[in-house]
Amino acid sequence: MKTYRVNILGCRGRGTAAARAYHAHPRTEIVGLCDLIDERLNTLGDEVGVSARFTDLDEMIRQTEPDIVAIPTGTEFHYDLCMRVLEHGVHIEVEKPMCVDLVQADDVIAKAQEKGARVAVHHQGRVGAAMQAIGQAFTAGKIGELRYIYGSGKGYYGGYGLMNIGAHMLNNMLKFGGHCRSVVAQATTDGHPITPGDVVPSPSGMGTIACEHITAALQFEHGVTGTLLQHRFDRMDSAGYAMELYGSEGRLVWKSGSAWWLPQPHFIPDGTHDRWEVLEAIYPEHYDPQGAASEADYWFVEEYVRALDGGRAHECSGVEGRHVVEIMMGIFESAAYRTRVDLPQKNREHPLLRWRSEAGLGRPAEMPRPYGEWLSAEFKRLGR
Ligand SMILES: NC(=O)c1ccc[n+]([C@@H]2O[C@H](COP(=O)([O-])OP(=O)(O)OC[C@H]3O[C@@H](n4cnc5c(N)ncnc54)[C@H](O)[C@@H]3O)[C@@H](O)[C@H]2O)c1
Repeated sequence: MKTYRVNILGCRGRGTAAARAYHAHPRTEIVGLCDLIDERLNTLGDEVGVSARFTDLDEMIRQTEPDIVAIPTGTEFHYDLCMRVLEHGVHIEVEKPMCVDLVQADDVIAKAQEKGARVAVHHQGRVGAAMQAIGQAFTAGKIGELRYIYGSGKGYYGGYGLMNIGAHMLNNMLKFGGHCRSVVAQATTDGHPITPGDVVPSPSGMGTIACEHITAALQFEHGVTGTLLQHRFDRMDSAGYAMELYGSEGRLVWKSGSAWWLPQPHFIPDGTHDRWEVLEAIYPEHYDPQGAASEADYWFVEEYVRALDGGRAHECSGVEGRHVVEIMMGIFESAAYRTRVDLPQKNREHPLLRWRSEAGLGRPAEMPRPYGEWLSAEFKRLGR
């Protein structure tokens, strides 16, 4: 069995998480690390025992000949780095969201096709241990016919929450609903429908966003509808980050790390229809829960190994990652133009920038990158 050679490009938080998973997996070997900052390179290199350390990614790829290059960097760098790495004809995985607009995502997919390379987007929740349990229960028919899917965020400012947490949630929803055919969004900033002046740069380099509160209705191809909530809460509420599948005979709830099944379609607190059962999480047999790798990142690697062995796409492929961007851009377009948006959209420009341009406005003024500072600046803009 082939051992896949891996490079990690970016050695901070997410690079460390990825490296721990690739290091722990018996079928992958990290053969090179790259960062612009020596201290990060050395800290991670020492932890996973990799001496091939680089500050130039092209040099790393040329010298170490990897099969897969992981790109866990800030979102504003995803596009340039994906394109540069794909030039070498190697498979990539990139952190979520894949890109900040559809022009970029299309380019990445086209470049990968031209080079015969695979793209995976690091939506690890879709393949993690709790989702494996949900998937197994779903396939076994434990909730009958799927009727509706609900997903929520953690309370970030809506448009930012959509690009950040919503990207994960949408990918989760696609697993069960299939691709999304159309979206309709109810979206407000400061209690009113958004105006072109409410279009702002995203925190954390996630492109251009708008909307403090978003409720999006989604029509999936499997004839199922869903709702995605991305509402800003005064206090973050991580417990709210969950997905629920409503079926004709039961319900399933996913939270990262946990899964539950209600063997009735309706929750009624009458002592009979309120018995949620815990579903046991499913791990690869070689996963060590005492080790440093998180189970979901490990599952993500396991899925890449299986996909490459089988000559097929990763479940969280570039095409799925791009479709997530299509839905997010569709939600922004629906909020701006107050209309239903059919997907995939023909116009691949960022809809909020197009909207501003049609209103005679240029790109929005810069705002701080860190979320806390960004929120203070936004509150100031809104006169709070
Ligand atoms: N999947 C998840 O659960 C999850 C969780 C949090 C964040 N994220 C995503 O992860 C990404 C951010 O990850 P992070 O916080 O580790 O990023 P970061 O920006 O803090 O770190 C990236 C590292 O890459 C290095 N780097 C950047 N450009 C480089 C280049 N050209 N050559 C070599 N090194 C380079 C930087 O020096 C830095 O050390 C975002 O896209 C975010 O959305 C995903």
